[in-house]
Amino acid sequence: MRLGVCTGGGDCAGLNAVLRALILSARNRGDTLLLGIMEGINGLAEMTPRNIPLYVPEALSAEGSGLNEFVLDSLLTLGGTYLKTSNAGNPFRDPVAGPKYKKAVIRGYKALGLDGLIVVGGDGTHCIAAELADGGINLIGIPKTIDNDYCDSELAVGFTSAVDMAAEAIMCVNTSGKSHDRIMVVEVMGRHAGFIALNAGIAGGADAILLPERPFSRDQLVQHLKNKVLNRKDHATIVCAEGATFSGESLHYKSSSSGSRHLGGVAESIATALHQSLQRETRWTVLGHTQRGSMAVPVDRILAARFATKAMRLAHDKKFGSMVVLRRGEVETAAYPLSRSRGGSAARKLAANDPTIIAAQDMGVYCGEDS
Ligand code: F6P
Repeated sequence: MRLGVCTGGGDCAGLNAVLRALILSARNRGDTLLLGIMEGINGLAEMTPRNIPLYVPEALSAEGSGLNEFVLDSLLTLGGTYLKTSNAGNPFRDPVAGPKYKKAVIRGYKALGLDGLIVVGGDGTHCIAAELADGGINLIGIPKTIDNDYCDSELAVGFTSAVDMAAEAIMCVNTSGKSHDRIMVVEVMGRHAGFIALNAGIAGGADAILLPERPFSRDQLVQHLKNKVLNRKDHATIVCAEGATFSGESLHYKSSSSGSRHLGGVAESIATALHQSLQRETRWTVLGHTQRGSMAVPVDRILAARFATKAMRLAHDKKFGSMVVLRRGEVETAAYPLSRSRGGSAARKLAANDPTIIAAQDMGVYCGEDS
């Protein structure tokens, strides 16, 4: 069997561990050629599809050799993605460029003689890949995202490492705030979902956690800090998701040097508002891409192994059009998401009754307004 694998969307810890597990699994079977497609699906759209052989069975040694053992070993913990990736939006939004892109990807897939493509990505990548299914591309998906917002899976590769990294940073900021009697505001990633903020906030000992799903009132936050935090200690730590909003206000965005728009800036606004209301010294920190680039923690390495081996089995059983997902701790198979052009969306958010929100509230942590 000839399989391609690509990584799409933002990088995260654990992507290389997925690649390594796929390679080991192909090698263990002995009959599977595994090609790494460079820079997400885009690598297939090139006139000469950009790829590197990750594992080549002995019988096909004329096609090259796979990764050497040293590189293979280092993939287990190495951050980022060996195959590179792209987070440049959905090409199918453009009615002219979309069909051209699709044609080019299908041509590349056929040129490499692939029987299937394993796509490792978040909701955006999988919804893009889904546009290709009716063009004869056999898809198998693995969810990865630091945001943990892939709809069908309770855990995605990369999330646990991001939370680890963020929690560590929050504790460092907290230590500094304690020394200076300051109010510290830490902004974490997560797009429109609060999974990182909630989990890292609890693990880092935050006094308030502000989530995209639960707008917060300036008054409630000030009263919480005054009456429940600063009455017992001289510092406070607030964790906010980049997608958190003041009640009735809109999302905060920043522009990159190339002109694209990214969520960000809410921590600065919160710090300014708190300084005005409380007349206390405040500081804000944005953790940004530090949350994406760490070494994969063991939970992510294990998840990578469980997802990748299941994906390899699905490919060999020709169960294309499937995703591997985690439900109640077990790896299961779900349907591949629908493409956006068919109304598909594969993102999820924190539920209003999420038990982790309730745990935080039960400890007296302010988590925004109850709807
Ligand atoms: O989806 C992962 C993520 O890291 C989000 O949390 C964040 O909003 C976004 O990607 C940032 O993307 P980029 O690195 O392309 O700016």
